[in-house]
Amino acid sequence: MLRVGILGCGNIAAKVCDSLKRNKNVVVTGVASRERSKAKKFAAAHCPDAKVFTGYEKLAKSDEVDLIYIATPNTYHYEHAIMCIKEYKNILVEKPFAMSKAEADSIFFEAKNRGLFVAEAMWTSYLPLHKQVLEWIEKGRIGAVKYVTANLGYDIWNVPRLNSTVLGGGSYMDLGVYTTNFALSFMGDDIRVSRVFARQLSSGIDRDTTYSMESEDGSILGNFYVTMCADTDRDGVIVGERGKIRLSNINNYRRIAIYAPNDTLLEEIVAEEDYDHSYVYEFESCAKAIASGLIQAPEMPWSRTVRICQINDTIRSMM
Ligand SMILES: NC(=O)c1ccc[n+]([C@@H]2O[C@H](COP(=O)([O-])OP(=O)(O)OC[C@H]3O[C@@H](n4cnc5c(N)ncnc54)[C@H](OP(=O)(O)O)[C@@H]3O)[C@@H](O)[C@H]2O)c1
Repeated sequence: MLRVGILGCGNIAAKVCDSLKRNKNVVVTGVASRERSKAKKFAAAHCPDAKVFTGYEKLAKSDEVDLIYIATPNTYHYEHAIMCIKEYKNILVEKPFAMSKAEADSIFFEAKNRGLFVAEAMWTSYLPLHKQVLEWIEKGRIGAVKYVTANLGYDIWNVPRLNSTVLGGGSYMDLGVYTTNFALSFMGDDIRVSRVFARQLSSGIDRDTTYSMESEDGSILGNFYVTMCADTDRDGVIVGERGKIRLSNINNYRRIAIYAPNDTLLEEIVAEEDYDHSYVYEFESCAKAIASGLIQAPEMPWSRTVRICQINDTIRSMM
């Protein structure tokens, strides 16, 4: 059984706790907030058996948790990750893992020195349907991949965290990290950013970002669009030389389907579990990896997280 401590009692932490209620291998045993009343209220609503900690450091020092799930705003991930690692805790860090490649390198350096498990909570990579799409591609069902596209948009422009430069807001750092992980998953690691167009507010927050990527050998092109101002269809398409795969929704796969080049549907799979249950997969992966003595999750190895952070640096510098 994996004992999880929640660091930061916000929106996503609540969803995760509700999702984990149905899992017996992963149990929330600790909850930490900056405010005691908030942690108590959170625990009562989402994990009544968990111990309540006032202040994140007390959770990091506790011997009642095996893994700490860091669910604070983007710009705090680095500080909280390093604090937990220095207390010899395994960690699962919300996306974006860090604000830069330099921060990510530093977290992995400290974790490796202590033999600790670290993973990015890029939950899409852990979903069964994501693994199924990878398998279809590996088996050559659509031939060599030629073109990849995805969009991810939500009408969330009024969420304070997303409009704050101090908290690392903006559409790219909130949603673009998913499309970049999508690109790396299906275009491969040898890709580069060729074009970025962002519509930025005077604060520098990007409300929409479109970008193109291509493989180093020029054989695969990718186009991506993210926005925090509109609900888009959130679909993804992977076009191969012998057919295509359509994914809906790329932020929580509900349906994946393979088509022949003439658009004939060959096979489709619809997700069985309900939307909010999908967070269990990343925690199950952590539990399995830690039980096996691994310090990385196979679905989100450190190299992938570092590569995403490196691409994030590039895209933000091109806005
Ligand atoms: N995987 C997903 O599907 C998903 C979805 C949404 C967000 N996320 C990621 O999860 C992280 C948290 O997002 P969220 O939507 O849950 O945010 P949120 O509702 O604002 O919660 C963040 C929590 O961080 C803590 N915190 C610490 N310092 C803070 C500060 N200076 N300002 C505000 N909060 C502070 C607060 O907890 P206390 O007050 O209890 O200390 C707060 O409740 C982000 O990195 C985001 O990208 C992931």
